[in-house]
Amino acid sequence: MSFLFFALLILASPSTFTDARCDFPAIFNFGDSNSDTGGFWAAFPAQKLPFGMTYFGKPAGRASDGRAAIDFIAQGLGLPFLSPYLQSIGSNFTHGANFATAASTVLLPMTSLFVSGLSPFSLAIQLNQMKEFRSRVLEFSPQGNYYLPPKDIFSKSLYIFDIGQNDFTGRLADIGIPGVKKYLPQVVSTISWTIKEIYNELGGRTFMVFNLAPVGCFPAFLTELPHNTSDLDMYGCMISYNNAVLDYNKMLKDTLSQTRDQLPDATLVYVDTHSVKLELFQHPKDHGFVYGTRACCGEGGGEYNFNPLVFCGNSKEINGKNISTSTCDDPQNYVSWDGIHATEAANKIVAFGILNGSLFDPPFPLSKYCDLHPIG
Ligand SMILES: *[C@@H]1O[C@H](CO)[C@@H](O)[C@H](O)[C@H]1NC(C)=O
Ligand SMILES: *[C@@H]1O[C@H](CO)[C@@H](O)[C@H](O)[C@H]1NC(C)=O
Ligand SMILES: *[C@@H]1O[C@H](CO)[C@@H](O)[C@H](O)[C@H]1NC(C)=O
Ligand SMILES: *[C@@H]1O[C@H](CO)[C@@H](O)[C@H](O)[C@H]1NC(C)=O
Repeated sequence: MSFLFFALLILASPSTFTDARCDFPAIFNFGDSNSDTGGFWAAFPAQKLPFGMTYFGKPAGRASDGRAAIDFIAQGLGLPFLSPYLQSIGSNFTHGANFATAASTVLLPMTSLFVSGLSPFSLAIQLNQMKEFRSRVLEFSPQGNYYLPPKDIFSKSLYIFDIGQNDFTGRLADIGIPGVKKYLPQVVSTISWTIKEIYNELGGRTFMVFNLAPVGCFPAFLTELPHNTSDLDMYGCMISYNNAVLDYNKMLKDTLSQTRDQLPDATLVYVDTHSVKLELFQHPKDHGFVYGTRACCGEGGGEYNFNPLVFCGNSKEINGKNISTSTCDDPQNYVSWDGIHATEAANKIVAFGILNGSLFDPPFPLSKYCDLHPIG
């Protein structure tokens, strides 16, 4: 009677488990464009092709050619895609809600979307929306209905945070790494404070916090941020900016470990999505890609195919010439979709790493709690 026996027992009776429901009946997600499933575009229409071309065949509110990592996570846990909280038509919140919007920050933006390009739906607003969501459930669907979950869902749900990238990158060109580093401790403490709020006010008990991606490898920042060629590493990524990301991630990890000690019975997992994204940029060919630091959808060609004046899907008159972006016809060969966001193919590999448990600290046996579904 041993582990081996137990393993054989599982193999011998797969049907016992095939229909088992995952223990997370819902996901509530807080984030930015990396995990937006249509929130921003519900408020500020409308997204254009080629966004969505690979999987949805039309714009679907994701900052990608197809699914975002959060879509694959939902699929892996056997749940439908998350409806954006801000989407009033066609949404179904029985299995959670997505509060993420493109260009969201952790800290309150100090200017308008129309000035700075930052979303008004920063983390504090997303938390307010989460609290409002719960009040509405208590009022309208204590037992659950066709659109809303039952009121006991909040303690059983998985709360995911994938936010902070815009706090980090938003002012880099302007005030540089030393300037940004002054407020990063506040970014991390705000994430920690938000988790405590959900723990105390909503009874949340399971939290996952994604760390920051190696933005020094993104075509957009390689084009836009000042750097010398001596700042490029052997993979063509900017050393200084990537080191600053590592410093941020360490601070996040340390703070979360202190937060963990303050939350009895909670599971708080730091998710190292950075390592798998870095690996894709450094060794794209080992993972079925052709291009690492070159965007699929963009303008200008060259090493990065990114033009800061014309974003993917747009056109603009520059010096009397109508400049439009173009889109590769093989996004599966690219890590970067539009210079900032990952392709569906890259998102899938990130989600796979999350679902298989290899990115969790401390280790968290997701596959033990859930009957994981294939994410094809
Ligand atoms: C919402 O999704 C749940 C679970 O998939 C389903 O049972 C319910 O019928 C859906 N509601 C609507 C209005 O489609
Ligand atoms: C580039 O290198 C020069 C000389 O070492 C230095 O003065 C300058 O600050 C560097 N610029 C950037 C953006 O790192
Ligand atoms: C510029 O080109 C795009 C794509 O071909 C087109 O949709 C748009 O109407 C053009 N704009 C102008 C001002 O000609
Ligand atoms: C988990 O997924 C990651 C990313 O795809 C991969 O590198 C790793 O080998 C996988 N680990 C296991 C144990 O399957």
